[in-house]
Amino acid sequence: MKEIKLNNNVMMPQVGIGTFLLEPNDAYNSVLNALKMGYRLIDTANAYRNEKAVGRAIKDSGIERKDIFVSTKLWPSEYENENAVDETLKRLNLDYIDLLFIHQPTRNWRHGYEALIKAYKEGKIRSIGVSNFEGEYILDLFKEYDILPQVIQVEFYPQEELREIIGKNDIKIMSWYPLGGKGMTKDLLENDVVVSLANKYHKDPAQIVLKWHTQMGFIVIPGSKNVNHIKENINIFDFELSIEDMALMATLNNGKRRYTRTDEALENFLNWKIPYEK
Ligand SMILES: NC(=O)c1ccc[n+]([C@@H]2O[C@H](COP(=O)([O-])OP(=O)(O)OC[C@H]3O[C@@H](n4cnc5c(N)ncnc54)[C@H](OP(=O)(O)O)[C@@H]3O)[C@@H](O)[C@H]2O)c1
Repeated sequence: MKEIKLNNNVMMPQVGIGTFLLEPNDAYNSVLNALKMGYRLIDTANAYRNEKAVGRAIKDSGIERKDIFVSTKLWPSEYENENAVDETLKRLNLDYIDLLFIHQPTRNWRHGYEALIKAYKEGKIRSIGVSNFEGEYILDLFKEYDILPQVIQVEFYPQEELREIIGKNDIKIMSWYPLGGKGMTKDLLENDVVVSLANKYHKDPAQIVLKWHTQMGFIVIPGSKNVNHIKENINIFDFELSIEDMALMATLNNGKRRYTRTDEALENFLNWKIPYEK
């Protein structure tokens, strides 16, 4: 598995499995299958309500903890809970987390970020992440904190403005919705450019898209509960897209986001108490 070096010298696999919208049983099966197939990066979140299942799959895989990279995310209603990191560790049944994010830039995000810094200093997490912190949020964070994140997780998008902002601090991008999101993959995977490149490289459309991400230097975490897709999504290290084809892929950006966040949504996030899995 190809790894990339974070700005604190921690090595991180560049392709992993995402678990958004996976029920605990599906998350367990997907993560266990993925680990058996060679995946070493798993992305979950408090909000996905499958951290316990992910933890069980990790244990049942029999793979040594040090060989697996686990990322998860604190939800805004946990930012001011001083036990949030320990409770997350407990749900995952792990002693440390490789990468812990704050999930959303709600108005209380500084509490969450400070909880991450504390956990980092205490050795409970190996790296710090911020999720959905484009624009003013990341700029405020740079102004206010000396300890900067290693990774920013954001929606699939060339993210040119963000890349310029974070580039000098060598913060890596982890793309979510790389295939367009559950139930919305058609636009991307049936796009003429993607299909023609799939034919040219004798790969499937999803592999072309995921390859574009890794060649851009992004970390990518496609979600799936289909074993064939899980297998296919990691099998992208035996070819390279040419410079021209990378440029062609970049033309797919039409500036349209699949997800737009409102201030009202952020406020609702902050007030949502997670009904965790039993
Ligand atoms: N930080 C955030 O706010 C945030 C938000 C959203 C997501 N995320 C993270 O990013 C991860 C990825 O996003 P996502 O899972 O929402 O969306 P995604 O990876 O773009 O798309 C998932 C969809 O793609 C399908 N799929 C997977 N591999 C495929 C393949 N090879 N060919 C055809 N279809 C394929 C899956 O169906 P099958 O199950 O049938 O394969 C599923 O419906 C999440 O799982 C989560 O970890 C983070």
